[in-house]
Amino acid sequence: MSYKFPLTGLAREGKLSLTQQLVDRFAAAIEHGDLAPGEKLPPTRTLAADAEINHLTAARVYRKLAEEGYVTATVGRGTFVRALVPAAAEAQGDDWQSYVLPDRQASYQEEILSDAFRLAHEEGMISLATGFPSPRFHPTDELAEISAQMWADEGKDAISYTTPEGLLGLRERIAEGGKKRGFAEGPEEIIVTSGCQQAIDVAVRAIVEPGDVVVVESPTFVGTLAALRSTGARVIGIPVDENGFDVDALEHVLTRHEVKLCALQPACQNPTGTDLAPERRSRLTQLALERNFFVLEDGVYGDLRYDGKKLDALRRQAPGHVVHVNSLSKVVGGGLRIGWIAARGPVLERMTMLKQGTDFHTSTPIQHIAARYLATNAYARNIDESLPYYRERRDVLMDALATHLEGEVHADVPHGGHHVWVTLNRPVEERMFYSEAVRHGVSFTPGGAITVDRPQRTSFRLSFSLLEPEDLEEGVRRLARALREVRRSSRTAVAAPLS
Ligand SMILES: Cc1ncc(COP(=O)(O)O)c(C=O)c1O
Repeated sequence: MSYKFPLTGLAREGKLSLTQQLVDRFAAAIEHGDLAPGEKLPPTRTLAADAEINHLTAARVYRKLAEEGYVTATVGRGTFVRALVPAAAEAQGDDWQSYVLPDRQASYQEEILSDAFRLAHEEGMISLATGFPSPRFHPTDELAEISAQMWADEGKDAISYTTPEGLLGLRERIAEGGKKRGFAEGPEEIIVTSGCQQAIDVAVRAIVEPGDVVVVESPTFVGTLAALRSTGARVIGIPVDENGFDVDALEHVLTRHEVKLCALQPACQNPTGTDLAPERRSRLTQLALERNFFVLEDGVYGDLRYDGKKLDALRRQAPGHVVHVNSLSKVVGGGLRIGWIAARGPVLERMTMLKQGTDFHTSTPIQHIAARYLATNAYARNIDESLPYYRERRDVLMDALATHLEGEVHADVPHGGHHVWVTLNRPVEERMFYSEAVRHGVSFTPGGAITVDRPQRTSFRLSFSLLEPEDLEEGVRRLARALREVRRSSRTAVAAPLS
């Protein structure tokens, strides 16, 4: 590589170090435009050879230039001149952004998630990957009526700023449900959030610091995994069996680590549809009380129950230790973005501050509408109407698995929620199976995208809430064909992959 300024002729015995002399020359070249913004500098080994300095000195030159803001270094890509002037930005398009942005590649989870949204709308594709509530249960007529009345009654107040914890009227309605189900005692314990995802994000950011140890049920909801990982915590997965989160495994982790937070869905868990067994529920809260860690209880699917009796929220057993998160998304509609956190003590104050720093507060008119909606009996009616519809689809999917994948898979009947967790009796390469399934016109959520560690077995989540019975049946038929194809082309059964 040739330089646009001289590198040789350095004063080897002068007062100024070799490093500083080279830093000055590079800085001058950048300031005079001899080195253009975005331009790649030679590797340190080349610089060392050309300037007749050792490699360490060359590395020091680039480090110092980076500290002084002249260059940016990206592992694996190299060192680039910073501080684009607008004209140069135009000339080079937007490529410069990848040099300036932190070095970050999309994770397997993120790829799968964006695939799920994309494939859900692809012509001819049967998406068993998305488990949104069916639009047929979105209460649009009721909401239209409520909205019109809300604007007429609340006037300009409805569009003003409100407090970060949310409208008192809505918090009161949420707390009424909380008293019945055990997740809250009163409105002072509630923060309204923009969906349950924000509730999870705010809660983990309030509780967890980089380097902390957190445990989470595995498999779980992809958004919980993403939120936990973004804190820089060490995330340990705890298996889920037919009795829910394995508390023995948690106890084992507790013998070796100081756990800060334990995240789980104790009822109708996504993706397994299991409930945490009564004995495990009390042991978990007892452990939280003895060892002083927080429990993050996600209740979004708790009301969508097909079998068994409704469970009290875990928070009733340990209200100071359990932070409950929930939303209207799975019953009323995810687009409303109304969720909440129920907690007490200093953690509640921390979360309120974080909520304020994130978006000040959740949309005021939507909070008014949600409060009015919850004041009617429409929520309970919606659940009653939707349960038979979802139960029928769950049963069709279970039957289709038994018919088309007999002897190939194991799947427990979910007690609630929108998903079935399926495990192959003989593993295959997960990505290969996924690609083959998509080629056959069906998509699903691969287990590797929603488990903490590289899974030993091949599992996947199938969601049934959005599909008609005949499409569920056809989707499983396609899956079976894809599996046969994978087995044919690869006789070597290996555990699921993850980079
Ligand atoms: C278990 C679980 N928790 C939280 C969420 C996020 O819910 P929301 O749409 O209210 O943000 C989801 C969404 O799928 C979920 O499945």
